[in-house]
Amino acid sequence: MKAIIFILFSFYSVFAFASEETLSDLNLVKLTPDEENSIVSLGKKASDQVSQKLMKTMLADIKSVGIAEAARGWSKSVTIINDIADSFELGMTIRRPTYQYRNPINKPDTMDKLALDFFLSDESENKQYFARKIVEKDNNRYVYYQPMYVTQKCLLCHSSNMSEDVKKVLEEKYPDDHSNNLKLAALRAAIRVELPESAIKSGQ
Ligand code: HEC
Repeated sequence: MKAIIFILFSFYSVFAFASEETLSDLNLVKLTPDEENSIVSLGKKASDQVSQKLMKTMLADIKSVGIAEAARGWSKSVTIINDIADSFELGMTIRRPTYQYRNPINKPDTMDKLALDFFLSDESENKQYFARKIVEKDNNRYVYYQPMYVTQKCLLCHSSNMSEDVKKVLEEKYPDDHSNNLKLAALRAAIRVELPESAIKSGQ
């Protein structure tokens, strides 16, 4: 009987731990110079496209429908980002993880936290990106992160000085918002570009 309980408990432990990914579960590998060149060039290209397209669309929206309505419709930013990722036709995915998330899909995972902590530390001084290879059975992949900082424009929808109509829209749509009190020049998020191993290896 004791043996059975022990076996059952062992199974339970394995499953209980498997559900919570920890840093030591992530098998990260430093990049060779060739790998680094490839992932950085693709990652930067995609991230820059994301920043430019989002900014252009946001300014056009504010101009045409005003800040509050632009905020109400801004979940389309996710579609814009996904379309850019798809346009590379490499199996690319792009996200914007941040500790100050408004949309819960941007809540950081273990890998994201490592990159965000890097950008928040002195270690990242003069460094424009963070890139690694994740080695996992049948799913080796590369991740590239580029930091994004708070500028004056962002405060219109991400600060305690938002106008009342904007505040109202955001409180309705995002009851668990962590991005409504940001400070100028602070780290806002990282743009995360992920690519399967094949996308980098075949290009070399
Ligand atoms: C018109 C209002 C508005 C402005 C201006 C604005 N944002 Fe946002 N932002 C939003 C909304 C709304 C969301 C949530 C979108 C969603 O549903 O995915 C968001 C989400 C984000 C996210 C995704 C992470 C998260 O919190 O879920 C980032 C990153 C971001 N904004 C950065 C910026 C930056 C940088 C600026 C300034 C250049 C900016 N925003 C300006 C309204 C705005």
